[in-house]
Amino acid sequence: MYYKLAPSILAADFGNLGAQVRTVAQAGAEYIHLDVMDGAFVPSISFGMPVIKSLRSCTDAVFDVHMMVEEPGRYVEDMKACGADIITVHAEACTHLDRVVNQIKDLGLKAGVALNPATPIQALDCILDQLDMVLIMTVNPGFGGQKFIPYTLDKVRGLRARIDQLGLPVDIQVDGGVSAHNVKEIMDAGANVFVAGSAVFGGDAAARTKEFLEIFSSME
Ligand code: DX5
Ligand code: ZN
Repeated sequence: MYYKLAPSILAADFGNLGAQVRTVAQAGAEYIHLDVMDGAFVPSISFGMPVIKSLRSCTDAVFDVHMMVEEPGRYVEDMKACGADIITVHAEACTHLDRVVNQIKDLGLKAGVALNPATPIQALDCILDQLDMVLIMTVNPGFGGQKFIPYTLDKVRGLRARIDQLGLPVDIQVDGGVSAHNVKEIMDAGANVFVAGSAVFGGDAAARTKEFLEIFSSME
C-alpha cells in the first residue's frame, strides 16, 4: 500500500501560510489539504479561492480541496482556476451528487466524495467506480483539533473490503483527530491518505511531517 500525508492548513499560522506550506511540502508531504467552509454546511467559515490561489505559487504539492460547502458544484470551476488538483465534496451537501462528480472529472480534476461520521458507506455504492477518492470523516466536520470517533474505523474497514472486492483504484482518506499515535491503527483498517491538522502544525511542522512519513515507510 502507498501512503500519503495531507497536512491541513486549518491548524497552520495564517500569518505565515506560504512558509508553512513550503515547510511541510519540503519535508515530504505530497498533498496540501485545504478546508473550505461556508458557514452553512458547517458552522464555521474558513477561507476560499483567493487564499488557495495565492498558495499555488508556493509549492508543486497536490492541492487537495475539501469543500464543506452546500451545493459545491457552484464553485468547482473557480477551484480549478485557483489550482485545485483534487476536489472532494460532501455527499450530504449535494442534491445531485452524480452531476457534481462528473463536473469535477470533466474539468480534468480528481474527484473525491466525503461522508460524515453518521452517513453509511453504502451511500456511495452507485458511484464508487467513478471516484478517485473517498473521504471518511473521522470527526464531525467544521473544526480542527477534535477527537477521533472510534466507530468510523469500521467504515474504513468496510469500504476497504468493498473497494478491494471490486478491484477499484480508489483512495481512502481519513480526516479528523489523526495523529502519530493512532495512524497505524487507521492504516491497518485500510486507509491510505491521512489528513492531519493539529498533529502537524501544532508543533515543529517539518519534524511532525517526517514522523508520519517514517511510520508510513515502516508499514509499506
Ligand atoms: C475538519 C477538517 C479537517 C481538520 C482536521 O472539519 O476537515 O481537515 O483540519 O484537523 P485535525 O487534524 O486537527 O483534527
Ligand atoms: Zn478536511
